[in-house]
Amino acid sequence: MPDGSVLPNTDTLPDIDSFFQPTHNEVARQSFVSALRKHVLVDKLNEMHDVYETKKKATFTKAKGHAPKTGDDVEAAMDGEMSYRVYSALRYNAQEMTWASVQDAVERNLPDMIELAKKAAAETPAGGSLRLNPNLEIPRYVSAVDVHLIPGCFHNEYTADDVAQGAVVSFGGMVFSGALGWRLGMKGKFGAVGESVAYYLSQKYPNFKPRRILDIGTSSAKNLMPYAEVYPDAELYAIDVGAPLLRYGHAKAEASGIAVHFSQQNAEATDFPDGHFDLIVSSFFFHEIPVKSTKKILAECHRILSKGGMMAHMELPPRKNCDPYLNFYWDWDTLNNNEPSYSAFRASDPNELQAGAGFDRSTTYEITVPNRATFGDAKFAQFIKGEVPAPRHGQGGWYIFGATKS
Ligand SMILES: C[S@@+](CC[C@H](N)C(=O)[O-])C[C@H]1O[C@@H](n2cnc3c(N)ncnc32)[C@H](O)[C@@H]1O
Repeated sequence: MPDGSVLPNTDTLPDIDSFFQPTHNEVARQSFVSALRKHVLVDKLNEMHDVYETKKKATFTKAKGHAPKTGDDVEAAMDGEMSYRVYSALRYNAQEMTWASVQDAVERNLPDMIELAKKAAAETPAGGSLRLNPNLEIPRYVSAVDVHLIPGCFHNEYTADDVAQGAVVSFGGMVFSGALGWRLGMKGKFGAVGESVAYYLSQKYPNFKPRRILDIGTSSAKNLMPYAEVYPDAELYAIDVGAPLLRYGHAKAEASGIAVHFSQQNAEATDFPDGHFDLIVSSFFFHEIPVKSTKKILAECHRILSKGGMMAHMELPPRKNCDPYLNFYWDWDTLNNNEPSYSAFRASDPNELQAGAGFDRSTTYEITVPNRATFGDAKFAQFIKGEVPAPRHGQGGWYIFGATKS
């Protein structure tokens, strides 16, 4: 839709994504950034790993009298190493360039996106809703840093009814994953994690039919929407602290014909009644939350889950499940990507955190599930039967943890 256009006066809403119309040069820039990220996360990562295995591990072992035992040991072994410095510098810059590569196109069509989001909120053709709370106190772990280097983070608003951060996070996310095929979803429209975890739950627990599903730290609900296909009778709820993300997500859900009830809430203390949900999910959420707040959020999940209700949270695999080199690799973001809580979350045990929040320890679980789009449903069926393993998290699999409320 060209700049300055008026919305068509029809009963259907256009997809808010159709307002993102990068120029030829902007598309070229975005493709370059996607390719650069792939170059760093495949080629440069492999080069760095080779240097570690062939040189740095032995040097460390000789100096310390033992092989690296932790990610911090590997970090010490690699400190100053050129391949690590090149990898980090390129990865950091590619991260900054990701968001910058979409900002101009978002700004150009922002007025149209805002109008569409307002129309979606007024008309709600799919039957969802949007409840914002301008007085919500944004937690310091969101307001004090631009989390993973997104200028403006998740919550900042620069104009009335702003959706800009929703658009930047959404389109930046596509550039971020664009060349990493295994991160992509089946339809390219919604999130690969939601598609995979929803499908896993439906195949693993065919008798489980949640009436209400909540996604916490939803951003724009791209990883909640696939639950509408798997559980068509369920009501979908999505919370986040960032109003621009929720406005954006609500417009997208309404145009997609999916009823989602969005509300701006802190997951540490929500206004939902006790026992309201049968399923609570999240993705890429807890590693951004200080462990102290994670404990509060899990306790809140316990309160608002029904008896027999389940949780499934996709996250980074904890340190206890990874070898020292992988821990070094995963914890990179703590040092370089404005994600200060990342390592502390990975150092904790999700089973213990959930038990501490009131869940019976015998119901807690951890599993890596295949990415549905790349694994395929035939192999997925074999995975459910225990005949084939899932690919590792980060290589075509998604680590999830959860529990059931007794
Ligand atoms: C990395 S994003 C998650 C992305 C999203 N779940 C997805 O899969 O695309 C983390 C989200 O959590 C939200 N968030 C952080 N702290 C929160 C809290 N205490 N309560 C609710 N949402 C929170 C942030 O605003 C952000 O949108």
